[in-house]
Amino acid sequence: MEKSINMEQITLGVCYYPEHWPEAMWEQDLTRMLEAGIKVCRVAEFAWSKFEKTEGVFTFDFFDRFLDLAQQKGMKVIFCTPTATPPAWLTEKYPEALNALPNGILVRHGMRCHCNHTSPVFRQLCARLVEQIASHYGGHPAIIGWQIDNEFNCETNMFYSESDSVAFRAYLKQKFGTLDKLNEAMGTVFWNQEYTAWDEIYVARPTLGNASNPHLLLEQKKFVSQSTIEFCKLQADILKKYRKPGDFITTNGIFGHLDYQEMNAQALDFITFDSYPNFAYSVGGGVNANAGAAGKLKDRASGLSLARTRSISPVFGIMEQQSGAGGWQTAMAQQAPRPGQLRLWALQSIAHGADYVSFFRWRTCTVGTEIYWNGILGWDNRDTRQLEEVKTLKDEVAGLAQVTGSHYRAKVAVCYHYYSDWDGEGDIFYGPLSGPSVMNWFSACQEAHAPMDLLCLREGMELAGLLPYELLVLPHIGLLSNELCRLLSRYVEQGGRVVFGARTGFKDEFGRCPMRPAPGGAAELVGGTVREYTLLPQKKQVTATLWGRSVALPLVNEVLEAEAGGEVLACYEGEYYAGRPAVLRKKLGAGEALYVGAAFSQELAALLLERAGLAEACREELALPPELEYALREKDGQRFRFLLNYTEAPQSFFCKKPFTDLLTKKHLEGQAQLPPYGVAVLTD
Ligand code: GAL
Repeated sequence: MEKSINMEQITLGVCYYPEHWPEAMWEQDLTRMLEAGIKVCRVAEFAWSKFEKTEGVFTFDFFDRFLDLAQQKGMKVIFCTPTATPPAWLTEKYPEALNALPNGILVRHGMRCHCNHTSPVFRQLCARLVEQIASHYGGHPAIIGWQIDNEFNCETNMFYSESDSVAFRAYLKQKFGTLDKLNEAMGTVFWNQEYTAWDEIYVARPTLGNASNPHLLLEQKKFVSQSTIEFCKLQADILKKYRKPGDFITTNGIFGHLDYQEMNAQALDFITFDSYPNFAYSVGGGVNANAGAAGKLKDRASGLSLARTRSISPVFGIMEQQSGAGGWQTAMAQQAPRPGQLRLWALQSIAHGADYVSFFRWRTCTVGTEIYWNGILGWDNRDTRQLEEVKTLKDEVAGLAQVTGSHYRAKVAVCYHYYSDWDGEGDIFYGPLSGPSVMNWFSACQEAHAPMDLLCLREGMELAGLLPYELLVLPHIGLLSNELCRLLSRYVEQGGRVVFGARTGFKDEFGRCPMRPAPGGAAELVGGTVREYTLLPQKKQVTATLWGRSVALPLVNEVLEAEAGGEVLACYEGEYYAGRPAVLRKKLGAGEALYVGAAFSQELAALLLERAGLAEACREELALPPELEYALREKDGQRFRFLLNYTEAPQSFFCKKPFTDLLTKKHLEGQAQLPPYGVAVLTD
């Protein structure tokens, strides 16, 4: 079942923290929000103490007053469970609820997300609180939905407390049954790591060289995902008892070591994302998926995170969108959106499938770590240019009513696979390939106006999940199972194209390297195997000539050998393996599979797109410069073409047929122009 947001129309919202402001300001705040077109506000995210200041004593009057006011003003509310910020009394009395550093030292009160998800007492206290909140507020007419916790696995996606070790043992026992089986699967014969009792096993602890058994580490990440999902489901099951019909349950953000599709299936109605495109400009990285990796696309690269969100919920919400300069007092300093960018980013999210866009936050907080995470309004509470942009969006989203519920359409999908990603984090020979390869494919697709999805490959998936695409790219999926290889073969037989990159399928489900030629189960499909491989020094360029064009084959080079119907498409042009195969192809049924023995450069991705006939997807209707993004949403045969200009300069384009721009209501034909940071939404 599709787990998408289901708004009546594209809606604007804001994150509001009533507990940060004098109560006398609430009404004016809500009035100003409504005037700006903000119809929903998210509250109570971190407000545990407003409900349970003293253990077991519950009070509701604070948010009763807020909700009643919201109802009176006509403001809708997303209510949160405040479990990301447990109070000081809790962690003082029950230190077993705290998360720990790898060396076992407990992380203490003063930040957020400092608890683990496994300790029985913490689960019990959270369940009791959620039961109280949901049973009290669940029927309130102002509420339209619930957010569980905040950004699971955000501040950390590893847990090292006592209770995590206890729960990890139970997870392993259930999975492997006997210690013999566990020892075999975890390869503990190496360096004499065999376990002779379950109690000898812990979540990763400090070791010399900061390396521990990689197979057990992968299991630990699977376990983290499972326990976070359990923690989320515990809350969702309670909310489901008390919510009004139609009220949704969601959570926000996308972070590591969490199988979002599984969490969505078990606990949520859909997922929302927190969009901070200026992480692309920040110095020194940050918590957002874009950090440090946005390359030359900068804020436009945020589309990659939106594609990931879409791979979980095809139509989704943005729970938080950056509104001003960002940063903690201590980290993540970022510039403010330039005039026009707040609006551009909201429309970027909508172009990629969002039907709800909520800004972070209404007003900059005057206290605390996040004193520099600027809101729509600043500390001084005066009107701002950002508020003016939100007001512009008010009418614009009303004009996009017919776009509501439509789906982003892509013919190219770049695949990801959780276990390969998690294993790759600890494997310097292939983990670091994925980031650049995926960004190069995304950049190539962006510049060639070929809308691109990210697709989660998972065991048990159906062929129907692949068939919407004409091209599937599996950049570096190390742990590709035989089952998925069989599925991909069926896809190719039916006319699909698959492109694999280096290090595909060389590991098994536990991250061990079985004694068989790479790419394992995919060897038959691509018609060849890997004879040997090497890493390339950072700046070293080895090229190959593919269909007459010279392309770089970066980071890793695998020397290939054609077998079983495979043909050599290109050979290395340097190094001791010059003249030996670099790219293989095999035709099968109506389709074909290609294997590239390297990471993907942008030029190679662009060439492969072109050869697959997927570049310039809109060529019949539009001629666009690379500076403009082209995105397509579709519903009941109606097409909505989004053109987005991320540059400070106007950009010209050409309409080969007449269109109406839903934002300006103007007719466009022939030569046209988008202003700096401008957007158009073209319909027939
Ligand atoms: C998000 C988080 C918010 C706030 C914001 C600014 O990741 O959900 O609570 O911290 O970032 O950094």
